[in-house]
Amino acid sequence: RQFLTATAVAGGGLSGLYTFGNGSDLSAATLANKPRLKMPSLLDTRQTKTAELVAQKGSSTFIGNAANQTFGFNQPYLGPTLVLENGDFNPVVKNQLSRPISVHWHGLLVRGEHDGGPHIPVIEGQEWRPEMLVNQAPATLWYHTHIHQQTAHDVHKGLAGIIHLTDGRDDDRSLPNTYGVDDVTLVLQDRRFDDRGFVSYELSMPDLMHGFTGETMLINGQYGAVCSTPKGIARLRLVYGSNAKIYSLFFEDQRDFQLIATDAGFLDQPQSLTKLPLAPGERAEILVDFSSGQPAMLMSDGDPNQGPGGMMGRMRGMVDLFVDRSISILPFAVDEQLPTRITSFPDQLEGPGISLREQDVIQTRSLSLDMGMMGGGGGGGGFAINGESFDMRRINLEVALGTTEKWRVQTTMLSHPFHIHGAIFKVLSEEGNAPLKHNTGFKDTVLVRDQTELLVRFDHPASQQNPFMYHCHILEHEDAGMMGQFTVS
Ligand code: C2O
Ligand code: CU
Ligand code: CU
Repeated sequence: RQFLTATAVAGGGLSGLYTFGNGSDLSAATLANKPRLKMPSLLDTRQTKTAELVAQKGSSTFIGNAANQTFGFNQPYLGPTLVLENGDFNPVVKNQLSRPISVHWHGLLVRGEHDGGPHIPVIEGQEWRPEMLVNQAPATLWYHTHIHQQTAHDVHKGLAGIIHLTDGRDDDRSLPNTYGVDDVTLVLQDRRFDDRGFVSYELSMPDLMHGFTGETMLINGQYGAVCSTPKGIARLRLVYGSNAKIYSLFFEDQRDFQLIATDAGFLDQPQSLTKLPLAPGERAEILVDFSSGQPAMLMSDGDPNQGPGGMMGRMRGMVDLFVDRSISILPFAVDEQLPTRITSFPDQLEGPGISLREQDVIQTRSLSLDMGMMGGGGGGGGFAINGESFDMRRINLEVALGTTEKWRVQTTMLSHPFHIHGAIFKVLSEEGNAPLKHNTGFKDTVLVRDQTELLVRFDHPASQQNPFMYHCHILEHEDAGMMGQFTVS
């Protein structure tokens, strides 16, 4: 197994002792030799109110000439970026694969029967035509297949894509919005490659425990690319499409950047950060100032679930696996030819403005994310929530429509990105303290490190036939049973 792949590995040593003395090679000559990062193709639904998504097989080369068999929507790998606005949305989902798929609109607040979860499979040769009414604040969302016990494998193969929900007012907000120029979508996925450059997805025992990770990054399904950015302010929409890897993003030169949006929409005020921890399922929009003309390298710290502090770090006892190193994510080169429009950061934005107040809480629930193997859960040795491993036939919770609840989510082992369908929440506390800076906005997925309290608003109905899910977004954990379902009525 290749541990040190062709990606640059900066620093080294044990987690927490990183040094960045080596520095990435960002010389003009090196950057000019790399392929330019491509954006996913655009599928604008604003006029048509529809989009056809066809799940299909494809062939994709990521490294060298190794042709991998992959899945995609309308293309060999991943799917088009859907541009959506509020109002009717009547997509058509078709399946040309010889296995069931679904299309879950992660972050879209629609009724249970339109949510595309595990109860709404589209089998080979069939179609799904949900007729939805979209009504929520602008945000970066995504879609992916969600068939129980197949999600991890099939998303890894490529069945995912992006949604830009827009209200057309980003110029008024002074936000960059030219797709692929100053408004850049980045789907982050780590992959494990074998010596010949083939993607591998063979789950060993440790992979099943902490989720499948790799040390090589694909951005928008591309390996080794450079992102060209105008000399000015660029907006990066980060979508964490990895199965399991937890990132903590920063620029190698430690420049600060502005967090302007989280999962469910804009923050009221941009937050200045130098590091952005995010986990599978989460999205973030940041503004980065490239007006100095200096190139930059986007990096990530090691994954806390895999470093010495995580369970696998302790259990594996193998030196190369013991250390989860910092990795390079993506170099940015400043291209003076590209048009610049936005030259300063906004200081005020407008969030989704949903009312979430602690005094409105009518019900408090405790949810424990259990990994049964280690003695917790009692759910028969599997992954579970409150001791119950996911069962399609069991409704775990019933929620009253139009109410606010407090969910206290805790983990005994590892950190888990916790996601709720059909609802938006705010983080009330983390480990008993005020939420971390990057978790102060409206969200639908949050990394639970120990104990996180959420204020959740349920404004969308879901029936017993088509319930909403809540689950860990480490896809191998979800498939192994760390998921529950609830009705809203
Ligand atoms: Cu992104 Cu239940 O999923
Ligand atoms: Cu979801
Ligand atoms: Cu998990």
